[in-house]
Amino acid sequence: MDDRSFDGKRILITGGLGFIGSNLARRLVDLGARITLVDSLVPEYGGNLFNIEGIQDRVRVNISDVRDEYSISYLVQGQEFLFNLAGQTSHADSMQDPYTDLDINCRAQLSILEACRKHNSGIKIVFASTRQIYGKPEYLPVDEKHLLSPVDVNGINKMAGEWYHILYSKVYDLRACALRLTNTIGPRMRIKDSRQTFVGTWTRLILQGKPFEVWGGEQMRDFTYIDDAVDALLAAATSDAMHGQVFNLGGDCIISLKDLADLFIEINGGGQYVNRPYPSDRKRIDIGNYYANFKRIHSVLGWKPKVTLREGLTRTLAFYREHLEHYL
Ligand SMILES: NC(=O)c1ccc[n+]([C@@H]2O[C@H](COP(=O)([O-])OP(=O)(O)OC[C@H]3O[C@@H](n4cnc5c(N)ncnc54)[C@H](O)[C@@H]3O)[C@@H](O)[C@H]2O)c1
Repeated sequence: MDDRSFDGKRILITGGLGFIGSNLARRLVDLGARITLVDSLVPEYGGNLFNIEGIQDRVRVNISDVRDEYSISYLVQGQEFLFNLAGQTSHADSMQDPYTDLDINCRAQLSILEACRKHNSGIKIVFASTRQIYGKPEYLPVDEKHLLSPVDVNGINKMAGEWYHILYSKVYDLRACALRLTNTIGPRMRIKDSRQTFVGTWTRLILQGKPFEVWGGEQMRDFTYIDDAVDALLAAATSDAMHGQVFNLGGDCIISLKDLADLFIEINGGGQYVNRPYPSDRKRIDIGNYYANFKRIHSVLGWKPKVTLREGLTRTLAFYREHLEHYL
């Protein structure tokens, strides 16, 4: 990717006050982009104005909801890139309140694409999809050919949201692609609760000197550090080879949750956890072991994770040690 690819470009980021959106915005500001962040700031979700602390004068913030077709139809006009990241991220919430998940992760995605088709068909779109849509892996590492078999409502709606992007790319020549993110961690993730990732809760508790819980512990996982995820989003946006395609992201290593907990404690210089069996309501929607094969994006874009898990966790803990009060 050429560093000038985004210089002076008009860029819309839905979910722009959230974890991934705000980190992306911070990078794009330095690349000279003219950015509009759209976010509803629903309290249960990951949006946080502190996430744009220091760049607030260099971005435009529009507090609106992607379910509002009129706002989105207006906002997509004149934009050159759309990073479509707004989403309901909690798997458990999607089971308690399936209709809200449906409205945000599925219906609103279709209306965003309709807005682009009608008002700005030249825009380039990168959609944040998820490994959740594979469900319980039938083989590991999971590649993009793996059957899609979501285990929860969130997975089904994200799958539909992703496929609307691919469909609109194939049928209407909209230049859209999707990245299937795995667990993404780093500064500005939600740590109030586990709605985004259990790593958030672990981070908060360890810094508060309280024990955190490890459910099960043998599950194998991979983690992408946020800077690597941002690299992938930017590279995807600037490559013509991506249109109508889906790509896995992955991590630099595969680790069990128990080993991750030990690594957390080692990096923090202390801490404790309690090992518990999986709560039954969560067990039903657990995906077991998961880690991605990300050879495809490596071969097309040369992307691979650069930040090790140890380094990523070290930077994450350092960030929250300094800014904890803004994330409680
Ligand atoms: N973080 C991960 O590990 C991970 C993994 C896989 C996929 N993803 C996907 O990446 C995207 C970004 O996730 P994130 O981790 O930054 O989560 P996040 O919760 O921090 O960010 C999502 C943002 O979207 C906003 N939002 C939610 N509903 C909205 C609506 N209806 N209208 C406008 N804004 C709305 C939220 O306020 C929040 O700021 C999501 O679509 C998520 O599904 C994330």
